[in-house]
Amino acid sequence: MIRKRIAILISGRGSNMAALIEAAERPDYPAETALVVSNVADAAGLVSARDAGIATAVIDHRRFGKDRAAFEAALQGVLDANAIALICLAGFMRLFTAAFVQHWQGRMLNIHPSLLPSFPGLDPHGQALRAGVKISGATVHFVIPETDAGPIVMQGAVAVHDGDTADELAARVLGLEHHIYPLALKLLAEDRIRIADGRCLIDGAAAPDEALVVPKL
Ligand code: GRF
Repeated sequence: MIRKRIAILISGRGSNMAALIEAAERPDYPAETALVVSNVADAAGLVSARDAGIATAVIDHRRFGKDRAAFEAALQGVLDANAIALICLAGFMRLFTAAFVQHWQGRMLNIHPSLLPSFPGLDPHGQALRAGVKISGATVHFVIPETDAGPIVMQGAVAVHDGDTADELAARVLGLEHHIYPLALKLLAEDRIRIADGRCLIDGAAAPDEALVVPKL
């Protein structure tokens, strides 16, 4: 098995990054964490990446001002130098140009802590609580130029409890994120995802509902 070399892009805490690194430490996992890139030099996740023995790079977006393309050229240079095949965004707080997204089309995943297409953008948990939904969750999707949109690879669901604060809901969803992101990346690294009409079809799914994760009641 040739393991796909992935780069994980972070801006902060990096708990999803840590979950991906841990999954990829298994010898039978189809991807290896080749690189962690942060646009923030003191992102906490960089410390845990280095502790795990992963190569890291910092590309401070502020060096490039408003020139997103120049930032992305520097990023692309680091990705090329490390022969990266797939990108996982994990709390990476920069928007990309359409050109960068198109270059990585079908090879770049993101995780968002809501059941997309509900509640994209900032404060998804606050949005969910204000809407009064009874179920929330997390979505792993391919990145397209539109933010928090794109073909959905996998979703996980949790209950919203009466009286939840945004932090309490976020913590419940985060545990689920750590579960589904490695599963979704595994599908991509095994070339088991086909995109048709903007939707993902999973080849050889063990069960029709393999892409849905709901903790047992
Ligand atoms: C996660 O909730 C992720 O879904 C969102 O940003 C948060 C990042 O958390 N995109 P962490 O840095 O992975 O701990």
